[in-house]
Amino acid sequence: MFDYPIFEMPFIGHRLLFAFDAILHVFISHGAAVGGSIILVLSQWLAIKNNDKKLDDLSYKILFTFFIMATAIGALTGIGIWIHINIINPAAIGALLRVFFWKWFIEWIVFNIEMIFLLWWFLTWKQYPLGTPGKKINFNLGLTYAVASWFTMAIITAILGFMMTPGNWLKSYFPAEPDYMAALFNPSWFPSLGFRTFWSIAWAAAMAMVLTWLFTKKDMELRQKAMRLYGGVLLACIPLFVIFGAWYYDQFPQAAKDLFWMGAITRRMAANPEYATYLMVALSGMVLAGAVALYTKPKNAPLFLGITMLIGSMGLIGEFERVREFVRKPYIIYDYMYANGVRVADVPYLNKDGYLKHAAFVPPEYRVVTEENKLIVGKYLYQMQCRYCHTINGVNPIKARVKGMDEAAIYYRIGSLNSAATPFMPPFTGTDAERHALAAFLATLEKNDNHFPGEEAAKVTTSNEVTK
Ligand code: HEC
Repeated sequence: MFDYPIFEMPFIGHRLLFAFDAILHVFISHGAAVGGSIILVLSQWLAIKNNDKKLDDLSYKILFTFFIMATAIGALTGIGIWIHINIINPAAIGALLRVFFWKWFIEWIVFNIEMIFLLWWFLTWKQYPLGTPGKKINFNLGLTYAVASWFTMAIITAILGFMMTPGNWLKSYFPAEPDYMAALFNPSWFPSLGFRTFWSIAWAAAMAMVLTWLFTKKDMELRQKAMRLYGGVLLACIPLFVIFGAWYYDQFPQAAKDLFWMGAITRRMAANPEYATYLMVALSGMVLAGAVALYTKPKNAPLFLGITMLIGSMGLIGEFERVREFVRKPYIIYDYMYANGVRVADVPYLNKDGYLKHAAFVPPEYRVVTEENKLIVGKYLYQMQCRYCHTINGVNPIKARVKGMDEAAIYYRIGSLNSAATPFMPPFTGTDAERHALAAFLATLEKNDNHFPGEEAAKVTTSNEVTK
């Protein structure tokens, strides 16, 4: 347990840092890779079928843009996700790797195939002009790339689905009897895969429409043809992902559905759920206005409507990922592991035996609470159980959350973190002495303007030790 050194992300916190990286990754992976490959295979196929050189050239230019996005930003943010999840929650990634080992291994192989075929397709496109037999081979490279991209998304979606709805995967906790097939075919896999597939295609089509606008300034006939093609695909996908989205939402546990409005906006605004409705309607309106205008009036619709459509789409995608992550709280793997890496079934034992006793990276002298070390021990407990969602005084600052409370009040509050008022927080895990230590540390924050008050506490304790 806790088998990784602690890394604290000051000010912006782990949640926001991860959200930036992961949502940027989703924009690229779903748009430029998964959806992008599907729509470009379609337009290349049409270009071959109709011997349409202009559409073939335009498709190539769009592919060039998607290629840069996928290889530069997509691959980089993908690696960023791996680094970050290992730092922030090694327990969770360990559990997921154990359950999905072979699926993830295959996903990695297929991901390599995906990258090779993307390179191959892109780099040989111009070598085989329309009408030559090689063009058909080039088309098949694109098709393989599209299938491989979708396959990697399908596996990752299974893992994400598992985190929300693990289903009946664990027949017995100890000795563990996992059912790997039940984990893969968890209840939200198919609906979420359908949902992601169609919005990936729609999102890629939206990007392709804006690129078409930019690349066809002189050729209005081509612009009209391409806008009708990509716009038609976009509009056809909307009802499909709405249907799959409703089916997906239906699989959520009731407690997750109850957190929906808070996830959609913020806790502060959760008392006014209509704000969330306004937000969704505004974003959807931006997408529809742009898509319909570019589709119906391709020759006259201004670029700003296309940009509006992209901003609306990114807002909706970011909002979806935020809600999905938020409503799963307090769990990282539903009913099995809390967001802070503590397994649900281990809580009673750790409460009795002590949490820090099992913390491999905490120096041994801080694994038992004493009057002298309790501020440092408290800081370790904060770092190991709270820093997943809180910072000291940046985003969701713990300092402000305990403002005005004395040590006794904080001690009391820590005992009911996972209550009806704050159901999104995991319970505090540890002995009574550990709970006192955490309260003592949190109570020092208000008096201390230092960004890392634990370090101050460390100095105080060390000097105490010296004087003894
Ligand atoms: C899974 C994420 C998560 C974890 C882990 C977490 N918190 Fe929170 N906590 C939150 C969120 C979200 C809020 C609400 C912030 C807001 O009001 O906007 C919150 C609010 C609070 C509040 C204010 C509660 C209130 O009634 O307004 C306190 C106190 C608090 N957290 C303490 C802790 C402590 C102590 C820990 C570690 C033992 C911890 N939290 C761990 C997510 C978390």
